[in-house]
Amino acid sequence: MPPNITPYALAKWTDGEILRAVTTGVNKTGKALFPLMAFHRFGRMDKEDIYSIIAYLRTLAPVHNETAASQIDFPVNILINTMPEKAHFTKIPLATDSLAYGGYLVNAAGCIDCHSQTDKGKIIPGTEFGGGMEFNQPSGIARSANITSDLTTGIGKWTRADFVNRFKAYSTRNNYKPVQLPKGSVNTPMPWTMYADMELSDLEAMYTYLKSLKPISNKVIPFGPQTTP
Ligand code: HEC
Repeated sequence: MPPNITPYALAKWTDGEILRAVTTGVNKTGKALFPLMAFHRFGRMDKEDIYSIIAYLRTLAPVHNETAASQIDFPVNILINTMPEKAHFTKIPLATDSLAYGGYLVNAAGCIDCHSQTDKGKIIPGTEFGGGMEFNQPSGIARSANITSDLTTGIGKWTRADFVNRFKAYSTRNNYKPVQLPKGSVNTPMPWTMYADMELSDLEAMYTYLKSLKPISNKVIPFGPQTTP
């Protein structure tokens, strides 16, 4: 179960302990965190950005909720101890260097973790950003899109405006109202609404970075029925 990260739970944690958990995957007591938490990505960010996030967490209203410690089955409970990794902090690139800056944002936003194929929790080399990860839901399967620059199966034909507008369509500041999907439909796991209010120039920088990626030819059908009963 994901733990409480409001000040109620983190009051006794120092900034350094939170930094270590977020960027290396080891909690206050030295226990390994489940790698669904993207510490491998956050450990490649600018330390100052992580401190800003910690400062933000400390402003949240405390939520009095005790979450149970995660129960992880064998052998994953052993395996996850091999996953924590030393952080390799970087300096945030200048926003004027949109390729490097876009790459920084794409890393921080964890796009690669959904838009690649994995085997036992590890990204299969050569599938990065090529899509096809499956998300099983009771009413069907959602698959992540190919967001490499491939002209026919990726976003190679998308203009910068196409890309930005696709995100901005989900902005509550642009009056987007979350819709209730009819029963039996498959929802997208793509966190559109979370990214929608990013700065326009940040979305443009992410586009510049994605367009620089090697095209991968992989046709993905985003939504479909369950293949196994
Ligand atoms: C939690 C998983 C997840 C994360 C994280 C994620 N995506 Fe997605 N994304 C998906 C899925 C699944 C789809 C296909 C369904 C849809 O279009 O909503 C998708 C669709 C898309 C599409 C539409 C492509 C098309 O052909 O219509 C774009 C563009 C995209 N993602 C870009 C990104 C970028 C950029 C990031 C990081 C900022 C990101 N995604 C992070 C799961 C994810």
